[in-house]
Amino acid sequence: MRRSLVVGNWKMHGSSSSIEALVPTLAAAAGSQTDVVVCPVAVHISLVSQLAAGSELEIGGQNCSQHEQGAYTGEIAAAMLAGAGCKWVILGHSERRQYYGETDALVAAKSVAARAAGLTPILCVGETLEQRQQGQAEAVVTAQLAALVEVGLEETDVIAYEPVWAIGTGQTASPAQAQEMHACIRAFLQENVAEKAMAIRLLYGGSVKGESARELFAQNDIDGGLVGGASLKAEEFVAIIEASQD
Ligand code: PGA
Repeated sequence: MRRSLVVGNWKMHGSSSSIEALVPTLAAAAGSQTDVVVCPVAVHISLVSQLAAGSELEIGGQNCSQHEQGAYTGEIAAAMLAGAGCKWVILGHSERRQYYGETDALVAAKSVAARAAGLTPILCVGETLEQRQQGQAEAVVTAQLAALVEVGLEETDVIAYEPVWAIGTGQTASPAQAQEMHACIRAFLQENVAEKAMAIRLLYGGSVKGESARELFAQNDIDGGLVGGASLKAEEFVAIIEASQD
């Protein structure tokens, strides 16, 4: 039985005051049957860490460097995230692939660096609308996963399927569409990392809301969510956490 996991990706949002207002509610909702993680921008990690102290709310970074340390202006090493209180890190988010040119190979290298620092990577995959319309969705996602096989997909614990066309658009994949892709990912894992395939948690991401979460999470291969916009609203995010506990 896979434990549910709900991750809030705050992206480049939040201020000290909005975080001070939000975190206590989320900290109170974390725990029981679901792992709950929030991923603030790096400069807010220590504030979230202080506010979440003593609760089961966990913290993740939104990205890390593939390098251990060195002259890489603007970058953050995985060990620095861990030192600031993170246990998790989102890697390969489509916004990083799109705006910062992150390739499958770079995402793979970052996952190695993250694991070496003791972080659990949340590895994001997903197709664009154009790729889906051309019938390429499964091939694209499978290729993204294949790039991770060489660097130890068997050591992966979490994969997030985020169709690019559903991110921030309000257009959630239907539960059937999401389950279809999650089943494809599970089949890929069975072929490539058989012994681990049933243990890896598969998250769905893309316009998840309180009202859509329950049906999504009820699907066989959907073990939780990677949530953007709705994770910045206490009530919505708590509703999503509750939906994962049914
Ligand atoms: P969204 O973002 O929930 O706002 O669509 C999800 C994500 O990008 O992780």
